[in-house]
Amino acid sequence: MVDHMWLEPRTIRQAVCDDTFFIDVAAVGEDARSLRIRKDIAELLQRPCVLNPAVATVLLAVGDVGLRSDEGFVINVVDGRTEIVGTTTRALVYGFYDWLRRRMLGEPVNHVVSEPSQPIRMIDHWDQTDGSVERGYAGESIFFGRWGSNIHCEIGDFPERDASDVFRGDMRRIEDYARYLASVGINAVCLNNVNVRRFAIRLIVRPWIDRVAQIARIFSEFAIKTYLSVNFAAPKLIGGLDTCDPLDPAVNAWWQATVDAIYDAIPDFGGFVVKADSEGEPGPYAYGRTHADGANMFARALQSHGGIVIWRAFVYDCHQDWRDRKLDRAKAAYDNFHDLDGQFADNAILQIKFGPIDFQPSEPLNPLIGAMKRTNLMIEFQIAAEYLGHQIDVNYMLPQWLAAIRTDTGAGDNGVLDTGQYLQQAAVNPALVGYAAVANVGMDDNWTGHKLAQANLYGYGRMCWDQSLSAQTIAREWVSLTFADADTDAQQTITWILDTSNDTYESYAAPLGGGFMVRREDHYGVGINDFEYDRWGTYHYADRDGVGVDRTVATGTGYIGQYATAIAATLENVDTCPDQMLLFFHHVPYSHVLHDGTSVIQHIYDTHFAGVDMVDEYIRRWATLQDRIDDESFANVAERLQRQRRNAIEWRDQINTYFYRMSGIADSQGRLIYR
Ligand code: GCU
Repeated sequence: MVDHMWLEPRTIRQAVCDDTFFIDVAAVGEDARSLRIRKDIAELLQRPCVLNPAVATVLLAVGDVGLRSDEGFVINVVDGRTEIVGTTTRALVYGFYDWLRRRMLGEPVNHVVSEPSQPIRMIDHWDQTDGSVERGYAGESIFFGRWGSNIHCEIGDFPERDASDVFRGDMRRIEDYARYLASVGINAVCLNNVNVRRFAIRLIVRPWIDRVAQIARIFSEFAIKTYLSVNFAAPKLIGGLDTCDPLDPAVNAWWQATVDAIYDAIPDFGGFVVKADSEGEPGPYAYGRTHADGANMFARALQSHGGIVIWRAFVYDCHQDWRDRKLDRAKAAYDNFHDLDGQFADNAILQIKFGPIDFQPSEPLNPLIGAMKRTNLMIEFQIAAEYLGHQIDVNYMLPQWLAAIRTDTGAGDNGVLDTGQYLQQAAVNPALVGYAAVANVGMDDNWTGHKLAQANLYGYGRMCWDQSLSAQTIAREWVSLTFADADTDAQQTITWILDTSNDTYESYAAPLGGGFMVRREDHYGVGINDFEYDRWGTYHYADRDGVGVDRTVATGTGYIGQYATAIAATLENVDTCPDQMLLFFHHVPYSHVLHDGTSVIQHIYDTHFAGVDMVDEYIRRWATLQDRIDDESFANVAERLQRQRRNAIEWRDQINTYFYRMSGIADSQGRLIYR
């Protein structure tokens, strides 16, 4: 049985069954999106939509509602009839699903005024044409399927094949997915991995682009634009050219022709996502060109079609020498991009990971966010739990993401300017900013492997639409929509697990902002020294006296100097640096006393014991839900909690033993630490 996500037709029907709805969508016109709303109303509500406003009890209408965003809408009850009005049909898609959500949650559906916090609200898939998903933990790709032995073919070795081979072709699932995304306000999706290899390089050309177009049409019906990741070296790899120099006329002409053909197939195509000069991917540096040169080449080709290029700032040296303590990967985004501020085209966006390293359980805000003054920016998150428990350990990420976007960027002239506001201020084109996040779905029956990991996908969309929501509110919403039949106490139990889960995971995986003690091969589980003498530039520098990375300007890597002056001053001083990030910024003795009076070593012991205790508590509380929620969800989470417990125990015992051996300091409470 396929387990639906939050928009379960059955529960929607339950929520509206007391009333008779006659919904009039005639006013929205005859484009595909309005037709989709009509079909959804008929299917989801099992109610007719009528073309006669006189008998409609709910009206969806296009009209000027005086909002900043053309995706915003208002819902009012006028003379006993509910009216959902927005300036565009896109707005009505969001208005319709918002109205449904409020009905299902039992919230008032009158005097609603709603518009998105961010204009671009994007999901990035790291799906590959062989059906696998890079950092995917929920089964195979929903877009692409395995296609046998040619899975191993290398670049340049493309046998003639039937175009359909790389596509899974499960359009029903894609339609369900598009509906889920639209229901939480997502308006952009990139279908393929940022590492564009092998067959994926060809997705941008015929005949494969025609198959992409079939998928794009479905997303389009839900007001979602489709994007593709491209390989910078495509002109050489599939275009027959001998260069990819972004200033070379032939290269520009090749991209222009390619883009023109894409728009023939997909008139509302969104544009490209590009990972260049990063982790071995090709890029403009090979030709002595800058990242702005590279991004602007794509921007030129896309411009006349209204397309955009999203250029990733995740560029760093992955061949660092661990012996050199002045090298610091955290500095890379700023070092590579800060001087290019103001040089990117109007339809180019620079996409920055929210932290300076890589989606870690605990990271400060990337200092490039705040430093760019004349560039369109997007902030990148990862819903896929690469470093956050692989959707085996429960980890509701909204607390971490919301904290990141509410952190002061230091860019305000008078006082705090958080990320959301800052993006508007820095933009060349304020319509071209937003958030992007790596997807966490796959072909697993429940979409996300761990049922509770659905809350992250839901929550990400809600955060993009309304970044003033609290993590708790979003969790409560998701639980009420998803476990609509469960009693209030059961819903509260699930909400409590979600609310505490991010702290719990952090408590055993990243004490005090110290990190990357993760297993090298798959980034799951403890591997204290797996990256310590390695080229990836991620170290904890534990020795017999202390632990942490000295990133101060005075004695360390100088990374702190990339922040605005006042923020840098707070971080530079070990006494004012927040304890939660202490080991990210400072190398301190084990006996260093934190603000709550505990020593660093004691904090490490305490949090690692507490982490396992919390998982035990989850297991106890989850057991009380048997027969109070559906069997599949119950069994799924119960099984994952047992795996999480094994993981948390391993983290606790290895970390505690390691730091005991390093420091020689015993646990003040005399708990069992293996020697
Ligand atoms: C991480 C991740 C890679 C991914 C990269 C990126 O390093 O492990 O799989 O390709 O991020 O964001 O490009």
